[in-house]
Amino acid sequence: MSLISFDPEKCTACGICSQICPVNIILPGEDGIPSLPAEYEAFCSRCGHCEASCPHDAIRGNYPAFAPADNAADTTKINSEVLTKYVQSRRSIRVFKDMPVEKEKIARILEAVRFAPSGVNAQPVKWLVITDAAEVKKLSALTIEWMRRMAESDAEHPFMPIFPALVALSDAGLDPICRNAPGLVYAYGENATGYTDSIIALTTFDLVAPSFGLGTCWAGLLHIAAQEYQPLKEALGLPEGQVLQYPMLVGYPKYKLRKIPGRKQADVIWK
Ligand SMILES: Cc1cc2nc3c(=O)[nH]c(=O)nc-3n(C[C@H](O)[C@H](O)[C@H](O)COP(=O)(O)O)c2cc1C
Repeated sequence: MSLISFDPEKCTACGICSQICPVNIILPGEDGIPSLPAEYEAFCSRCGHCEASCPHDAIRGNYPAFAPADNAADTTKINSEVLTKYVQSRRSIRVFKDMPVEKEKIARILEAVRFAPSGVNAQPVKWLVITDAAEVKKLSALTIEWMRRMAESDAEHPFMPIFPALVALSDAGLDPICRNAPGLVYAYGENATGYTDSIIALTTFDLVAPSFGLGTCWAGLLHIAAQEYQPLKEALGLPEGQVLQYPMLVGYPKYKLRKIPGRKQADVIWK
């Protein structure tokens, strides 16, 4: 069976599928009915645009892909004003309620996130999800342990100047690394080339989470340590050969932000 099938009974040879294909591999046949030549199948990114844009439901992708159950939700209910306010209102959360995050909720967020864009639709992003607050705390402790060792050594690191202050905060009983978050998601992948896709996926996670009542914070300090400190890598326990991409804290915000803080104006060259 060819990777993409075209139903000649339904197809009206309108040509939309050919125009919309990102890699221009859907060619019209002599009768106008399109086809994907076998020698081009390897270039198909399985993006599904041909199937999704066909006005006559004449196209099927014959590869495993998981569409949402409600395939035709009315997204016009979210108007641009509401969405702009929603995006402007998203904030990093650093104080969480002492309340676990349900795995089921993270799964629902990931159900949105798996539709985030990725280069050539490779969808390389994988997830390590921690919903045990004690496990998150362990990661904070290992990060501080690494920072303490670094601060006491004569090693060089671009973030060295902040390590003593973070260690002091930890010694005072605070958690400046994971902020006592009850949950954490860590995007990872087969190799470093998926990094941009992971950041896009996490950005999507960051945006979707508040609609589920959850708050997030990018965990940059944890990531700095996780790339360097073997005991921390071992605690994260990724399968062999996998690369950590970036972590994000997750939990229920303890405090409500009552205003949208200011930000720089968009810096644009208009042409
Ligand atoms: C890549 C990246 C890494 C970050 N790492 C940390 C971190 O380690 N700790 C922290 O408290 N905030 C971290 N943040 C959050 C930023 O400080 C925050 O996004 C910024 O101050 C703007 O605030 P807002 O997200 O509430 O708009 C990080 C943000 C990004 C994008």
